[in-house]
Amino acid sequence: MQTYLHGRDLIGDLDFSKEEVETVLDVAFDLKRKRVLNESHAYLRDKVLAMLFFFSSTRTRGSFEAGMAQLGGHAAFIESKTTQISHGDTTKEIGEIFGRYFDGIAIRHCDWGVGNGYLNTTAEYSRVPVLNMQCDIYHPHQCLADLMTIWEKKGRNLKGKKMVVSWAYASSYSKPISVPQSLVLQMPRFGMDVVLAHPPEFKLMPEIMEQARAEAKKAGVGFDVVHDMDEAIKGADIVYAKSWGPLVTTTDVEEGAKITKKYESWITNEKRMKLAKEDAIYMHPLPADRNVEVTDAVIDGPNSVVYDQAENRLHAQKAVMALTMG
Ligand code: CP
Repeated sequence: MQTYLHGRDLIGDLDFSKEEVETVLDVAFDLKRKRVLNESHAYLRDKVLAMLFFFSSTRTRGSFEAGMAQLGGHAAFIESKTTQISHGDTTKEIGEIFGRYFDGIAIRHCDWGVGNGYLNTTAEYSRVPVLNMQCDIYHPHQCLADLMTIWEKKGRNLKGKKMVVSWAYASSYSKPISVPQSLVLQMPRFGMDVVLAHPPEFKLMPEIMEQARAEAKKAGVGFDVVHDMDEAIKGADIVYAKSWGPLVTTTDVEEGAKITKKYESWITNEKRMKLAKEDAIYMHPLPADRNVEVTDAVIDGPNSVVYDQAENRLHAQKAVMALTMG
């Protein structure tokens, strides 16, 4: 069990080794048990986490804020637009100054080509851990909750399990590509054969794909890319289907919308889920475009685990905070 996590940042999914991720999830299960038994677990008494948001959130804000309170500390909710960042506070200053006020700095910054750099620069100048609440490249805390949920539903021995990470159509907005990128990086390390499905224009970043292939090779598992949702879902144990923007192909909003519109048929519906194994689970990080990205029948159906996934954000993040900020 690797426990040397004190003071560490969690920005990219591979920042923690496989053994360290296992430690995080072991602690997360313990914290989940403690919470249901109403056992005190105030490991972060008097500690304060800054939560700096450049983008909206429901689950991430709620779970980090509740998690800090349950650990005996406090979380300060800070929206970038209410700060002096737009009037000149530099990233270095945020790292230096928040690092002196707070015991951890959590940041959500999803702007394409900007977010990850902002987190890394903050971390460079911060004396306390920087935690990624989602950037343009990674969503590591979502991915930890996803893995925790998969362990709960499918057991820890995932060798031979087929996980499909599929693009799905959505019309609400161009969603970040951080969730599929985190999944293809992290899940092969835990023994799953990963199949990534997307229309050709919805490629992930080449450097992420290269790392994902290397992780799959190291773990001795499969990692395939297909451009057909039905083909991907056939025989799957885990169907994780969500939308993301064609950001690697174009950052032009109008062109992106035109490309996206071509693939309206990429919806997760009951007919498609029937292609998967009978006990396959359906996963989505939420928010979802209901009846566009996924039908009500699937997301509210017996195979859906979306609420367990959302709940596990709380437990997984509490584990990360207790281990890095304690
Ligand atoms: N899944 C997720 O990160 O949800 P929010 O955007 O609501 O935080």
